[in-house]
This record gives sequence, C-alpha cells and structure tokens, in this order.
Amino acid sequence: MKELILTIHIIIASFWIGGMLFMVLVLSPYIRKLPESVKAYQEVGRRYSRLGTVIGLPLLLITGILNMKSFGFSPIELLKPSTVYTQTLQIKFFFFLLTSILAVFHDFYLGERSHRSERIKKITRAVGVANLVIGIVIIYLATKLRFGG
Ligand code: HEM
Repeated sequence: MKELILTIHIIIASFWIGGMLFMVLVLSPYIRKLPESVKAYQEVGRRYSRLGTVIGLPLLLITGILNMKSFGFSPIELLKPSTVYTQTLQIKFFFFLLTSILAVFHDFYLGERSHRSERIKKITRAVGVANLVIGIVIIYLATKLRFGG
C-alpha cells in the first residue's frame, strides 16, 4: 500500500511540475504568437488549474501525510520536528503552503484579470515563474529526504 501511495504522490508531483515546465518552455512561446493569445492562455490555464491546483495540490497534501505515516512519522512533526528528516519535511511543507497560496492567487485572481493591462500580465507571468522555481525547490527537498534529510 505504501508503494502505491508514494507512486500516486510522485505522479501528481510530476504533473504539477511537468505541467508548469511545459507551459513555460513549450506552450507559452507558441501561444504568445496567436492572434487570440489571451483567450488561449485562459482556456489552457483554467483546465490546468482545475486539475493541478484544485485536485492536484490537495491530493499531494493527503498522499504526503500518508507518506509520512509510511515512514513512521506523525503529521504533528510538521509543527515540531524532532529529526533532521522532519526538519527538511517541515521546510518542504512551508514551500508547499507558499506554492498553494501563489497558485490560487495566480489562477483565480491574476489569471482572470491579466488581459486588463500589461502590468497585470507581467505580474501574472512573474508569479507563474516564481511558482515553478518553488516547485523545483520542493523536488530538491524531496530528494534530500530520500538521502535521509
Ligand atoms: C507541490 C508539492 C509536492 C511535491 C512536488 C512533492 C514531490 C515529491 C517527490 C517527487 C517525492 C519522491 C522523492 C522520494 O521518494 O523521496 C516525494 C516524496 C515524499 N513527499 Fe512529497 N511533494 C509535495 C508535497 C508534499 C507534502 C505536502 C508532504 C507532507 C505533508 C510530502 C511528504 C513527502 C514524503 C514523506 C515523501 C517521502 C520521502 C522519502 O523518500 O523519504 N510531500 N514528494
């Protein structure tokens, strides 16, 4: 069972980070050239955020907590870490909260308003890129955990 939970956790993490990388490196350069680029961004963004932000992030939290239990740790350790491993996990959890807040702000506030001005468009893009960087930091922390924290 623990293998299945970690597998689900890794698949969702791949979708979350892979989706952002794909958007920034592959889709965005193409969409930017389209005449209806704003509409295309919003359509793709809405679908990705429904799957990634609304479904993916809560599932990462649930499977993450179940992973903790599989490795013999209580979720309380996120508040009061007692080992190097749970200290790293606490930092990972902090970045998880940060990325969740930024994702909701990006998808449901900025994304819907980005067509209104160049300034909002730039902020939307910057928050999206910041979230990609945070995602990569989370992956680094996950690999640190693999090596004991
Ligand atoms: C954006 C959010 C997240 C991403 C991208 C992510 C990514 C990953 C990845 C790629 C792994 C596999 C590496 C490995 O097996 O060590 C992993 C493992 C793990 N994750 Fe996450 N994760 C996220 C959120 C969380 C949260 C919120 C928690 C806890 C509340 C959590 C707890 C764990 C645990 C305990 C492991 C096992 C680590 C080990 O191997 O010792 N994750 N995560």
